[in-house]
Amino acid sequence: MQFTVVSGELAAQDVDAVVVNLFSGVDKPDGATGAIDAAIGNTITALIEAGEITGRSGELTVIHTLGEAYSGNGAYSGFAPKRVVVAGLGKADKFDLDDVRTVSATTVRRLRNLGVKSAATVIHGAGAVGIEPGDAAEAMVEGAILGLYKFDKYKSKKQSGDDDAEDDKTLESLAIVEPDTAGVADVEAGVTRAIAFADAAALARDLVNEPPNVMTPTKLAEEAERVAGAADGLSITILERADAEKMGMGAFLGVAQGSREPLKIIRIDYGGDARHADNNLWLIGKGITFDSGGLSLKTSSGMETMKSDMAGGASVIAAIQAIAVIGPKINVTALCLATENMPGGGAQRVSDVVTAMSGMTIEVLNTDAEGRLTLADALAYARENGASRMVDVATLTGGIVTALGRGNSGAFSNDDDLVDALIAAGARRGEPIWRLPLDDVSKRQNRSKIADIKNTGGRPAHATTGAHFIGEFAGDTPWVHLDIAATAMTDSLSGWRTPGATGVPTRTLIQLVIDLAK
Ligand code: BES
Ligand code: MN
Ligand code: ZN
Repeated sequence: MQFTVVSGELAAQDVDAVVVNLFSGVDKPDGATGAIDAAIGNTITALIEAGEITGRSGELTVIHTLGEAYSGNGAYSGFAPKRVVVAGLGKADKFDLDDVRTVSATTVRRLRNLGVKSAATVIHGAGAVGIEPGDAAEAMVEGAILGLYKFDKYKSKKQSGDDDAEDDKTLESLAIVEPDTAGVADVEAGVTRAIAFADAAALARDLVNEPPNVMTPTKLAEEAERVAGAADGLSITILERADAEKMGMGAFLGVAQGSREPLKIIRIDYGGDARHADNNLWLIGKGITFDSGGLSLKTSSGMETMKSDMAGGASVIAAIQAIAVIGPKINVTALCLATENMPGGGAQRVSDVVTAMSGMTIEVLNTDAEGRLTLADALAYARENGASRMVDVATLTGGIVTALGRGNSGAFSNDDDLVDALIAAGARRGEPIWRLPLDDVSKRQNRSKIADIKNTGGRPAHATTGAHFIGEFAGDTPWVHLDIAATAMTDSLSGWRTPGATGVPTRTLIQLVIDLAK
């Protein structure tokens, strides 16, 4: 879709539809909504009086003017757009940037499904509630790109999103109308930023939504190469099994040994601050392209979403794509140790003892707790290669779904500043994060009778014992573990989240990097 920023009157735009808005409790619209109301014979005011438009959140009213040629001398005379869409914004004092994303996503989906090709819109929330127009426009474009996202490449007949229509409709252009000429530059900058953020999140969704027979470790490495090749300032290194053996990545190798697909170590470097090598952040994503559980086999239904077990890896690869576009003054490395977790004659056994790259021995009591094993070696590799801060992102535990539900990703950390920065970045991008404690009581659950540590801590504080395990390999390097098992995928369409992969936490990671570079 084409986004343009226009300065001037909304009513004057030559488009199929114009979008205005209304907070709840407003009975006489002003601003752009008032101007459109006046241009269409006070129809909006009449519908408010009739109780048909209330301004409540989620409400979308389509007023069909049918265009100038049709309306003749009637109430809509002289008004070119065939439709006026009034979007309810809810209560003004509760309205925030994520509401902007949501309104934008639901509105553009409706426009698309109506067959609208070109639309012009007000900037929802700009000014009214202390939201800067540039930030509001940014959130609108993020919401529009993510809300229109579809993964239909394997469908012979294309479908238009949330309805069952089999025709492939597309909204081709959205003009964002900023009334104040002086504000245009800020709005344009917001749109440019939004495209970098949302394209990255869409890339993460694509990587996750691909079926696991396509998105193998080899294919993921190829996709990473494509990302690195397309951007200035990114360099890529792909390492193989022999390299993992040389480095002593026994924990990662143990997970990979049951799979016929070659493992890949994917590393992308962005050098934004070459003169200060220490000014760096490592983004480390879990990259299990399919998690069958290994010999500790999952149930059939438990496997249905396990192509998404590389969502952490997808998010770090996608994030660095946007980071290269935005160009912050900080060094960033995206790292993903990719493999399948499969059963089979060569698979690791339950009760095997492996030696991780750090030298620590691990008793593998559940081959389905494979994420922490791969991350153990990933963190060791990062530290050996000079990481000064690390964020690992992983679909690590079903326990985090139990603990937090689907509204928040769970964070664990040894560093208050880093985790606070991550939580703030998540809030800024509408991807909520909640911190959970790393307490000593649950830490003891990882003690092994025969090795330094075991890879399962039992049922209590399930997500926490996983985090503790990874924490053993973070040592004293500032580190956050982000468990996205509950947030990486969704069943339902809701605002900017479309069914399938959500792209979480790609935009949060990009925001974190920008914030740390300040
Ligand atoms: N990839 C799964 C976690 C997961 C579960 C992600 C549901 C998304 C949705 C992970 O590898 C796993 O199997 N975890 C086990 C760990 C247990 C065996 C200690 C779990 O959470 O049950
Ligand atoms: Mn598993
Ligand atoms: Zn897993």
